[in-house]
Amino acid sequence: PLVTTAHLLQAAAAGGYAVGAFNCNNMEIVQAIITAAEAENAPVILQASQGAIKYAGLDFIAALAKTAIGRTRVPVALHLDHGTSFEQVVRCVAAGFSSVMIDGSRLPFAENVALTKQVVSVARAVGISVEAELGRIGGTEDNISVAEAEAFFTDPDEAARFVAETGVDALAVAIGTAHGRYKGEPRLDFERLSQIAAKVKIPLVMHGSSGVPADAVREAIRRGIRKVNIDTDIRQAFTEKVRAVLAAAPDEIDPRKILGPAREAAVEIIREKIRIFGSANRA
Ligand code: G3H
Ligand code: 13P
Ligand code: ZN
Ligand code: NA
Repeated sequence: PLVTTAHLLQAAAAGGYAVGAFNCNNMEIVQAIITAAEAENAPVILQASQGAIKYAGLDFIAALAKTAIGRTRVPVALHLDHGTSFEQVVRCVAAGFSSVMIDGSRLPFAENVALTKQVVSVARAVGISVEAELGRIGGTEDNISVAEAEAFFTDPDEAARFVAETGVDALAVAIGTAHGRYKGEPRLDFERLSQIAAKVKIPLVMHGSSGVPADAVREAIRRGIRKVNIDTDIRQAFTEKVRAVLAAAPDEIDPRKILGPAREAAVEIIREKIRIFGSANRA
């Protein structure tokens, strides 16, 4: 059934685990996420970025997700990932999403607060959850030095003020992760994460989690991360399988014979993540 992210993350906080938030943009990946959640008896968050919505169409993404969610027994939240405008949030509310992220992290503090508050007020009216971001979680392709990246890390005192002023349900923090594939191993600022968790009593979210070693993910969860976002690792598993199938059968022209195995590969990587997050058997 469809539930809110707040509902899932409250249980995760009580149980000391994290819920996987997996990005989808087509039928195969939606099915892979739900199949993996069922196989692990796990709660899960199905999320679509604005890019995914542009690619598939909001009506298609919502229909795929709602079809999958309607027939499953595991609890699933349908979430907008990195929404950047009030209008996009409202479109997702109308399409039946149970959760939205409003990402005002590029804005000055006061403007991020103002935009986030506006989203919280609509979300409260319709009973859905809101995630916001403070500090900047960049991409691995941003080509900035470690020192430059640290300048964008989330400040614990600002985080406490931000949460008090906005009333959000969950906060994405910048602690050293980045979107996309890492060149080396990411170095996470665990001390900062603990300081944020001590001051912010709502669930914390880790973006850019593909490529973060399992032990580092577990440590982050011990320190208060309750939602772990994964996109790149799914894309990689999916596309590597497509390549392998085509390499083994260069004349294959049936998309089902190519995308079916890719969907299976996605299920496997998502199951692995669910077990690392500690959310297996928590449905
Ligand atoms: O946070 C970014 C997600 O991985 C989605 O990426 O904007 O390419 O769909 P995208
Ligand atoms: P990765 O692609 O690095 O897993 O990041 C995903 C993410 O944070 C989506 O919001
Ligand atoms: Zn993200
Ligand atoms: Na990453």
